[in-house]
Amino acid sequence: MRIAVVGSGYVGLVAGACFADLGHEVVLVDNDVRKLAALKNGEVPIHEKFLPELFDRHRGHRLTFSDNLRESVRASVAIFIAVGTPPTERGEADLSYVESVAREITGAVDDYKVIIEKSTVPVYTSEWIRKIILRNGADPDSFDVASNPEFLREGTAVTDFLFPDRIVVGCDSERAAEVLREIYAPLTSGTYYRHPDAIPQPDRTSIPAPIIVTSTKSAELIKHASNAFLAMKISFINAVASMCESVGADVNQVCHGIGSDSRIGPRFLNPGIGYGGSCFPKDVLAFRAVARECGYDFRLLDEVMRINEDQRDRFVRKVRSALWTLRGKSLGVLGLAFKGGTDDIRESPAILILQLLLQEGCKITAYDPAAMERAQEVLHSTVKFANSSYEAAHGADALLILTEWEEFANLDLARLRDELKYPIVIDGRNLYDPEMMAANGFTYYSVGRAAARVETPPAAAMRNSAKKA
Ligand code: UGA
Repeated sequence: MRIAVVGSGYVGLVAGACFADLGHEVVLVDNDVRKLAALKNGEVPIHEKFLPELFDRHRGHRLTFSDNLRESVRASVAIFIAVGTPPTERGEADLSYVESVAREITGAVDDYKVIIEKSTVPVYTSEWIRKIILRNGADPDSFDVASNPEFLREGTAVTDFLFPDRIVVGCDSERAAEVLREIYAPLTSGTYYRHPDAIPQPDRTSIPAPIIVTSTKSAELIKHASNAFLAMKISFINAVASMCESVGADVNQVCHGIGSDSRIGPRFLNPGIGYGGSCFPKDVLAFRAVARECGYDFRLLDEVMRINEDQRDRFVRKVRSALWTLRGKSLGVLGLAFKGGTDDIRESPAILILQLLLQEGCKITAYDPAAMERAQEVLHSTVKFANSSYEAAHGADALLILTEWEEFANLDLARLRDELKYPIVIDGRNLYDPEMMAANGFTYYSVGRAAARVETPPAAAMRNSAKKA
């Protein structure tokens, strides 16, 4: 199948490379010529496992790059729109990029094409795309508009794409549904997985991938509702974690208890410092705005957002209650990315917390395995950057853990204790067992669990604080 993917952001890059791996001829279209030149030169602008491999495999063969939208559309049967839909000041999704692509492709709709929304868009967007293309003179029988939302997560984007829980295809004509079925046939029939070069199957996935065919509007709603539901699950457990802190219960035990109910499930029940990233914050806000426009007052979503913001303030209050005053305190910070496994810092709760702590007059030395370069662009010289977790901890009054990187869960605790001025760890991601931390000489605060305190600081810590004071 000849496919054009318009927009080389996160979704466009991953979808383009994966479609090529499924055997399709893909042209990735973008109007940023510098970005295209970098892609042609072998650069992959996002930190994503298996993506460089897929680009190396298909670049210049099944995966090409172009800034000529019309020509690319003319040469393709399926056109995926994967351009950005950033939030406006009112929280609605800004669809001007989607509209301008729809307008521009009209002249190239000569024989039958399926135009597919891949970006996260509000319900009714497909109707608008259709109207715009018709308004600009296309023959109504020469195209269909479909919705094929993407559910990939950053950090596991390629495997999420190739081993999905489900593929959702929203079409209002059988002709369009047939094109989409054919595109995904290697995944739904399982032929892709039998290929010797197939990307290896991750744990907890089942193959072949099921496909769900719905109306276009239902598919549009499925995407927004899925993200809003997951965000709600996180806010729910964060609210429960706050109750656990008040009454002295352990949120991990509570999660295990409620997550074992198969109707609830254990995933996305990790309490922490709130959700971030380029999707949940934007999509909950946009879904709220769509609901309002449709005449439904979805106040549950206001509460989801309020709990999420509150979670960051609660964490700062926790740092204050551990250290008393904050002005002039030196803090080691582990984690800047909005979650582990990515260099993305968009709406990162870690960065938002750092900014609150800087306003309080703290001095911060931070470390992140992938996100430091991006963080530097936002934090400039307000923060010092370290080359390792231990360097970030060196001489600090306390260590904060703000991103759930695996390497932060496997630190050499004796070495860490020796580096810190005081053996205090405030963990916003619950990466350690409180009793184990206390046994290793730390005073340890986490989310939704009682603080663990060392009664008598070990000799090394006493020596350190005397030496460094
Ligand atoms: C999210 C969805 O999970 C994807 O299905 C969706 O395709 C994507 O948005 C999108 O719409 O493009 P992503 O933003 O990459 O994916 O990240 P998640 O893994 O969902 O994590 C989002 C945030 O929630 C992170 O800050 C993470 O730390 C936090 N989180 C996640 C928790 O605090 N607790 C959890 O249990 C899970």
